[in-house]
Amino acid sequence: MIERILPVGVASSEEYADVPDSPLYPEELEAVAGASERRRRAFATGRHCARRALDRLGVPAGPLSVGGWGEPLWPAGVAGAITHCEGYRAAAAARSTELAGLGIDAEPHVPLPAGVLEAVALPYERGRLRALARARPGLHWDKILFSAKESVYKAWFPLTGRWLDFTQAELRFHPDPNPAATAGEFHARLLVAGPVVGGRTVRHFTGRWLVADGLVITAANV
Ligand SMILES: CC(C)(COP(=O)(O)OP(=O)(O)OC[C@H]1O[C@@H](n2cnc3c(N)ncnc32)[C@H](O)[C@@H]1OP(=O)(O)O)[C@@H](O)C(=O)NCCC(=O)NCCS
Repeated sequence: MIERILPVGVASSEEYADVPDSPLYPEELEAVAGASERRRRAFATGRHCARRALDRLGVPAGPLSVGGWGEPLWPAGVAGAITHCEGYRAAAAARSTELAGLGIDAEPHVPLPAGVLEAVALPYERGRLRALARARPGLHWDKILFSAKESVYKAWFPLTGRWLDFTQAELRFHPDPNPAATAGEFHARLLVAGPVVGGRTVRHFTGRWLVADGLVITAANV
């Protein structure tokens, strides 16, 4: 499923359940030493997907340690991301010569809990979401926005090492012209100074979203 929203040149891997006995390297085991069994299984399946994505990219896949903010530490020259939610785990990776930053996120396709949209959406975005909901009532646009912002954060963080608040990027959605489509593109405009990539300041991220099989899946890149 994730392949459908990733740019050409990105390798990926996904699972709909945990892969039993996915092996972990000692430094990875240490990162989840105190975690619940459920969390350890999700983490291990995420690492399993990440190593398979690296393999498909032709990059030797060793340990993927955890950085100080929880970010996976990809091999030099690779941009990548991992996601897991109930019933889904995935990883995607690209060579940094192709993409400077890559984020993916998956969420159950259900509305956000009450009060969350107010915390994660800008006034402009809330207005646009109301219009999108009128045009495409079967889709939970609040959850699509939330997931897209989490993808933006995962692409942003390895480039900056900085927090990015939900109110520091403004998202616009471009639904597919086909009214029955359940996928489309989005555009994220940074409202704070962006990282410098290849001598140019990044001001935007682009991405795609997909609703299928009860899930919202998003991918952002720069
Ligand atoms: C970090 C965060 C994005 C994770 O998203 P989530 O929906 O809770 O969980 P997911 O399963 O989709 O993703 C978890 C994976 O994200 C990755 N991750 C965690 N912190 C990260 C970071 N700082 N940078 C990049 N990736 C990170 C990890 O790979 C993690 O899985 P792992 O611990 O098994 O390796 C989220 O918890 C968060 O802190 N969001 C707030 C920041 C934000 O989204 N801002 C919006 C800006 S517009």
